[in-house]
Amino acid sequence: MSDFIKITSTDIPEINGSFSSHEELYKFSIEKPEEFWGPIARARLRWDKEFTKVMDCNMEKGVFDWFIGGKLNASVQCVDRHCEVDPDRIALIWEQDEPGKEQRITFRQLKEMVCKIANVLKSEGVRKSDRVVMYISISPLAVASMLACARIGAVHSVIFAGFSAEALASRIMDAGASVVITSDQSIRGGRLIELKKTVDAAVAKCPSVRRVLVARRTGNPVPIIEGRDVWLEEAMEAQSVECIPESMDSEDSLFMLYTSGSTGKPKGLVHSTAGYLLYASFTHKQVFDIRDGDIFACVADIGWITGHSYVVYGPLVNGITTVLFESHPAYPDHGRYWEMVQRIRPTQFYGAPTAIRLLLGHDSSYVTKYDRSSLRTLGSVGEPINHEAWQWYHEVVGKGKCDVVDTWWQTETGGICISPRPSAPGAEIRSAMPMRPLFGIAPVILDDKGNVLEGRDVSGALCIRKSWPGIARTVYGDHSRYYDTYFKPYPGYYFTGDGSIRDLDGYYHITGRMDDVINVSGHRLGTAEVEDALDEHFSVAESAVVGYPHDIKGEGVYAYIVLKEGVIQEHKQIIAELRSIVRTKIAGHAVPEIMQICPSLPKTRSGKIMRRILRKIAADQIEELGDVTTLADPSIIEYIIKNHRHCI
Ligand code: WTA
Repeated sequence: MSDFIKITSTDIPEINGSFSSHEELYKFSIEKPEEFWGPIARARLRWDKEFTKVMDCNMEKGVFDWFIGGKLNASVQCVDRHCEVDPDRIALIWEQDEPGKEQRITFRQLKEMVCKIANVLKSEGVRKSDRVVMYISISPLAVASMLACARIGAVHSVIFAGFSAEALASRIMDAGASVVITSDQSIRGGRLIELKKTVDAAVAKCPSVRRVLVARRTGNPVPIIEGRDVWLEEAMEAQSVECIPESMDSEDSLFMLYTSGSTGKPKGLVHSTAGYLLYASFTHKQVFDIRDGDIFACVADIGWITGHSYVVYGPLVNGITTVLFESHPAYPDHGRYWEMVQRIRPTQFYGAPTAIRLLLGHDSSYVTKYDRSSLRTLGSVGEPINHEAWQWYHEVVGKGKCDVVDTWWQTETGGICISPRPSAPGAEIRSAMPMRPLFGIAPVILDDKGNVLEGRDVSGALCIRKSWPGIARTVYGDHSRYYDTYFKPYPGYYFTGDGSIRDLDGYYHITGRMDDVINVSGHRLGTAEVEDALDEHFSVAESAVVGYPHDIKGEGVYAYIVLKEGVIQEHKQIIAELRSIVRTKIAGHAVPEIMQICPSLPKTRSGKIMRRILRKIAADQIEELGDVTTLADPSIIEYIIKNHRHCI
């Protein structure tokens, strides 16, 4: 047959057999997951002991085992294997905050750093499966520390270095960590951030912590607590450059990462060793068309899943050079990304729509004056990308020559699940939608009664009906919360929390969160978390937080506040205090942009806050309020609408 393409030779060489189309290979990956993932896992990871069974998964219970019986070490996949063949290849390029300043680390140097830190951790008594908290921004030492944990089988938990001391303390306590790794300060956009001081304030509340390892970033003096704090670089000096890797089970935890949900405290999602590594590296290769010698620039921080999967694990397992971006897209000016592209010459660039929206408002000469000819693929992640941002990315940054991939995934999925690539050669890519499921990913759209909506032109809750290797395995210390959040809402399916449309052509669009999670500049935030913080103010009776459309951030935080009776404090003062409470309890990115003080909130007769209405008002869609007849007191709506424009 002349139109019989041997996709396997270009796409996935490990799969034997010919497929007439991309579609056929995709079907095979869904229907025969063992035959699909087995050979790929065997070929792409180095096993100390090969697995005996590919998978044993139960979507009803939310229990997943992949590559059963296998043994391996994650740091070996990321450094040792590449060190053996090409030790002088550049593993990391650290694009430092100071414009024009970069540091290059070879695979040999990275391996030495990893082993030394691993030996430091061992000498501190850290053992297999112990949790190590990291509160540090991106740098070679930070990446090496993650891999050092992996080398000895400890579970790293990186907390984004913008979170407050209280947020950090609650995560340290939840993880029961005894060692914290941080740096003296960090620096972003020329601004110093006091990491060590924040760690001191957090650790004061965490009796489990016996050691704080402090790396030097700025060299400025910071308080050191005798007997507890140790300079990381000094401790490394005494250590050997060899450290025998711990042989881990496929299903042993590699790391945990906290993320916000619609209720309760942020949860520590736990990722596995083999399944996660395979999925992060496989998707990295397929979506970004990775070839030998590529330089991959994902500008996320390691405090988020994007940094874990596509700055650290994906690129390093694939043995290419990965860029660690420490700065800000507008520092020292709006050309920072593209000046870096000209100097470092990456082949792929992976960033967030919020940054693109920030940049497109400025003169395009900030882009065009730099040489971007090294770029082949431009990726977008973290939130929906609007058409204007997509077009600008495609036309101005990529000069129409690069493929733009809008990638949909989550902390929970471990890696990209829906993306225009991979697709059959020459297949179209459309603006601003992730379009096609990855191999092994079976998305379904369900209506509110839980019926699967077949066919095209349908919209509803986005679920996934089959397990894949990268899915998070549990919530740390609370498997029932994992089950309740992801598997109970639609029995037999993984519920993503997002809404989706499958259009007339069968392509997927993401319509946004269906729960009380908002996405501020790509950072996930539970509205309940912000409400809990606001409610702590002694003048606040209750609050309701919703997201509203924001030109640059995607969504902004809008808080409706009800004060206790008889409060005489000035409103301006209360608002200032509320901002500071949210900053102290959570983080700067959680502080509401808009706060409206109201006499009460719209509630149903049974006392439930009608958030749907509050969201519409915040979005200025007052004509679309819908049915308000179930409200206990409809007059409050009028009041809120009237005052909505005058809030602070
Ligand atoms: C949203 C980030 C639309 C979505 C990797 C998801 C997106 C949440 C996209 C996960 C996209 C991520 N289009 N929405 N391409 N990518 N999202 O856990 O709501 O920080 O559920 O993981 O971001 O955020 P998280």
